[in-house]
Amino acid sequence: MSVGFKAGLEDVVAATSAICTVDGKAGQLRYRGYDIGDLVESASFEEVIYLLWFADLPRADALAQFTRDLSAAREVPPPVLAAMGTYPRHVHPLEALRTAVSLHAMYDPDAHDNSPEANLRKSVRLTAQTATLVAAWRRIREGKPVVAPDPARSHAANFLWMLSGAEPDAESIEAMDDVLVLHAEHELNASTFAARVAVATVSDLHSAVVAALGTLKGPRHGGANEDVLAMLQEIGTPDRAEPYVRSRLEALSRMSRADRADPKHRIPGFGHRVYKVDDPRAARLRAIGRRLAERAGVLDLAETAEATYRVMHAETSLPVNVDFFSAVIYHALGIPIDLCTSVFAVSRIPGWCAHIMEQYADNRLIRPRAEYTGPEPRSFVRLAARR
Ligand SMILES: CC(C)(COP(=O)(O)OP(=O)(O)OC[C@H]1O[C@@H](n2cnc3c(N)ncnc32)[C@H](O)[C@@H]1OP(=O)(O)O)[C@@H](O)C(=O)NCCC(=O)NCCS
Repeated sequence: MSVGFKAGLEDVVAATSAICTVDGKAGQLRYRGYDIGDLVESASFEEVIYLLWFADLPRADALAQFTRDLSAAREVPPPVLAAMGTYPRHVHPLEALRTAVSLHAMYDPDAHDNSPEANLRKSVRLTAQTATLVAAWRRIREGKPVVAPDPARSHAANFLWMLSGAEPDAESIEAMDDVLVLHAEHELNASTFAARVAVATVSDLHSAVVAALGTLKGPRHGGANEDVLAMLQEIGTPDRAEPYVRSRLEALSRMSRADRADPKHRIPGFGHRVYKVDDPRAARLRAIGRRLAERAGVLDLAETAEATYRVMHAETSLPVNVDFFSAVIYHALGIPIDLCTSVFAVSRIPGWCAHIMEQYADNRLIRPRAEYTGPEPRSFVRLAARR
């Protein structure tokens, strides 16, 4: 067997894709050829979803129709909401979401239809309703009534509305829209790869999204934004960032390799498999976070993040990743710490759906090989003869 084993499939090309490019050395990210900076500056989340699914920017009439279709699909099936009411209140929001999406499949009329048309309809429904599910779980676990989606609002505005039941202001809506655009897609990240592996068996779209959600949850992937916020709160004030980071790095330098690999010993929000320089999304998120934090009167957290970032740059060559400054934004928007990864899911679902549809369009089973490191062939020993 000729297998060039690469731990973690580092740099291994595992698919062809026309959706997104990540240049880790130059720090560039493009969706369908468009630079992420231009997209976040000028395109709405709805426009970006259209771009990801239909490979080109929509004209005004197509965008208006697509936006109407998305916003009309926001209501979740009532039995799914009812079931969420029975979940134990302590469950993590991403677990609640994962279970709700799995249940959602049982009420989707296209659940077992893998045709391109059905996959598009399911993508519309799941993209629209993931936001509803995340917001609903927040309300349910706090013992508050679920806020019904409002089809007259944009995806970002409606999400904020459903989360809090209060009228969101223009700046918060713009920030949420930017966050959704910036997180919408990122090539073969772990959760997207999991989704593609699932559909390569000709499983269904919901199952692939459930696989992606389960993969996003981990602290090496989407779960890191919650760890960032916890760390910034632990640091507390900007002046404490330097001693905090130094002492953690110093402790890391004395650990075994296995201990260094443990997420709880790492500095969340730093390091990346592909980026060798700062993630291009981080600068945008940093600016948005600072603006929102100032306005919300939580500037200390933003400044603690800035100070932590400066020390990490001075002390290590680790690039800052997307999860670091996004945590500041979520905090300033009043989003509870354990909901941060679910907000990531709300933004990433169109990317997952784009890859799922691309995989179906040219599908072959994804079945790699393992380099065997176990015992040589040996004779079986019957139970009675074993010592
Ligand atoms: C993202 C991540 C999982 C990438 O992992 P990877 O490509 O497999 O990189 P490795 O785990 O091999 O790390 C390479 C080296 O950098 C160090 N490193 C990477 N990220 C680090 C971090 N956040 N804090 C401290 N050291 C880090 C590792 O200790 C390792 O050095 P070592 O071999 O001497 O121990 C990793 O950088 C990480 O755990 N980051 C923190 C979690 C996070 O922010 N995740 C969100 C990613 S968008």
